[in-house]
Amino acid sequence: MRIAIRALCAAALLCAASARAESHQTGGPYVPTPPAVVEAMLELAGVGRRDFVVDLGSGDGRIVLAAAKKFGARGLGVEIDPQLVAKSNEAARRLGLAERARFVVRDVLEADLSGATVVTLYLFPEMMKALQPKLLKELKPGARIVSHDFEFGGWKPDRSLVIETGEKYDLTGSVWKSNVYLWVVPAAVQGRWKGTLQTGPAPEFLLEIRQDFQFFRGELARAGRSAAIEEGQLEGARLRFSVRSEDGGRERYTATVSGARMEGELVRGAETVRWNAVRLR
Ligand SMILES: C[S@@+](CC[C@H](N)C(=O)[O-])C[C@H]1O[C@@H](n2cnc3c(N)ncnc32)[C@H](O)[C@@H]1O
Repeated sequence: MRIAIRALCAAALLCAASARAESHQTGGPYVPTPPAVVEAMLELAGVGRRDFVVDLGSGDGRIVLAAAKKFGARGLGVEIDPQLVAKSNEAARRLGLAERARFVVRDVLEADLSGATVVTLYLFPEMMKALQPKLLKELKPGARIVSHDFEFGGWKPDRSLVIETGEKYDLTGSVWKSNVYLWVVPAAVQGRWKGTLQTGPAPEFLLEIRQDFQFFRGELARAGRSAAIEEGQLEGARLRFSVRSEDGGRERYTATVSGARMEGELVRGAETVRWNAVRLR
């Protein structure tokens, strides 16, 4: 009888587990990030008092709690396991951080990212891949994403570092280190833009931009001449690129992108000219 009951319970647990696995893509089991790595992640993202940090798959809440306690930020933890969420909210109350650190039971793929300026992740690569379009769509240009150990396929990190940590359990048993990766969400600049220099002859030009995350290439056409865009890069809403001028010199463009408009400076030799551009339909 006892064996039959045990078998029934085991079957029920298996069913419950597989029902959960079916309804939620898993980002992996609960494995906490060591405190030294938590601190390095928040430092790499430059977290401060004005930030709203969202940890996707927040475990025991340590990243959001550290962001609130040591860096003065506000934060939200999103976690599928209700017990971990209860534990995190309890820790926030105990530490007097409940006003600034909150935890909810939710699938990371359904998380509200509207106010996030920093997103932290320690999730399997498959989940990183599933989250990538959501992060690019819902986060504002300039928002920072920091991940412990796992990268996005195809989107190169803007910065990365390696932390030696004695606290980390490593399956190989030989290397005790964590990789930390940072991405800054780039403004969307793909497409055609009509530019205007504020001074000088032939002030109008056309920009054709082909964007690959924070990098871009394309052409700049002015006064009947087309030049390749080189060194095109975005850091959030800050854009820069260069083109070769007719005399072999280099023209360096910088700008700040704001929706369908960009505005900045062109430096060519000793001269600095202001410019702006609007997106063409
Ligand atoms: C590796 S742990 C990281 C915990 C914490 N972020 C840290 O770094 O200490 C991953 C966490 O994500 C949670 N998780 C996995 N899949 C999830 C999903 N689809 N939605 C929400 N949380 C998920 C797990 O329950 C686990 O607590």
